[in-house]
Amino acid sequence: MVSAAIMGYGTVGAGVFKVLTMNRELIRERVGEEIRVKYVLDLREFPGDPVTDVLTHDFNDILNDPDVKIVVETMGGLRPSYDFTKRALLAGKAVCTSNKELVAEHGVELRQIAKEKNVNYLFEASCGGGIPIIHVLDSALTADEIDSVHGILNGTTNYILTQMMDEGREFADALKEAQALGYAERNPEADVEGWDACRKIAILSSLAYGKHISYKNVHTEGITAIDAADMAYAKALKMKIRLLAASGNTAEGVWAMVAPMLVGRKNMLYNVDGVLNAILVHGNAVGDTLFYGSGAGSLPTASAVAGDVISAARHLNRTMASDWKAEEMELMPLDEVKHAFFVRFAGTEEEARASFGEITPVRLPSLPDEFGFVTPVMAEKDFKAAATDRVVKRIRIA
Ligand code: HSE
Repeated sequence: MVSAAIMGYGTVGAGVFKVLTMNRELIRERVGEEIRVKYVLDLREFPGDPVTDVLTHDFNDILNDPDVKIVVETMGGLRPSYDFTKRALLAGKAVCTSNKELVAEHGVELRQIAKEKNVNYLFEASCGGGIPIIHVLDSALTADEIDSVHGILNGTTNYILTQMMDEGREFADALKEAQALGYAERNPEADVEGWDACRKIAILSSLAYGKHISYKNVHTEGITAIDAADMAYAKALKMKIRLLAASGNTAEGVWAMVAPMLVGRKNMLYNVDGVLNAILVHGNAVGDTLFYGSGAGSLPTASAVAGDVISAARHLNRTMASDWKAEEMELMPLDEVKHAFFVRFAGTEEEARASFGEITPVRLPSLPDEFGFVTPVMAEKDFKAAATDRVVKRIRIA
């Protein structure tokens, strides 16, 4: 029997407890021995919940019990999760987490400690919830040079943008609904400003390109400025606006960014609606691959964490190889990154042509004082140089 402990009995922690209990027999067969949850750490009481039998309020119960070989960290945030994770690893326990904030901030260091202690620090659930994208980048696609990663990695913003597009809702109403449905983070800023997606693409890109990409260096724009007029233009262009977390490995260098982008019908991410997540990975041998599913929610996220628990149980005294090196990746300056841009322009077509060359105007009867057009693919710095005060807004095209 392998003993495990869960730190944090919130949405994800309770889901992990449920999956490990519900599928106990199946997991025993797959691992070759039973995985028993010996402790669940939480400051709260849960009267009537089966967790009561194993509930503790003291981290030391877990830390000082040599029987506990695997610790699940589903507390979220940096404190006290960083301290607890570090101490658990140093005590020779494997740690499995869903905590993208902690992985993005301290993942390199925690993986290094795990390696020194011959255990594993696993974080499948930190990106894309139940979608096994970490395994894909850390293992299945390691024979490929990864050229690009384009992800819809935040369910809340995808839900909001889908509602705005399909139901004609305003941003604020769609956000309230997402919060009521439990999709948004406690602090919705992390979702709508793109910070959550930023941490996730930093983690995925670090694994994809093999050097550490700090989320602090990833250019990040949220969706708060997207309005009904943008949606109307998107419809006219037969495109959708999505918050994309993207990175690319080009001859000029590696870039990464989070920003609302227009996605056309030929793009595999076009049909990813509502709270669902998807990640499009292009490898130089495999070509395009798409990974799609529930990016949040108790059981989908718990499925990923519990899968890590099983991996940890199968590799109790052996660190699984990973290509995430501590060396810092120097990202290309944003100015050098190239995209086509959709531009809303409050001027004449001649003025637009003088700045951007040949353009095809898109006009909406509801917006008589402006029109839209798509630029050729150009570097951000060239766009900035061409843009005049006639540019009302620009949205990149994926
Ligand atoms: N708030 C996140 C989302 C939860 O909406 O995707 C999962 O990380």
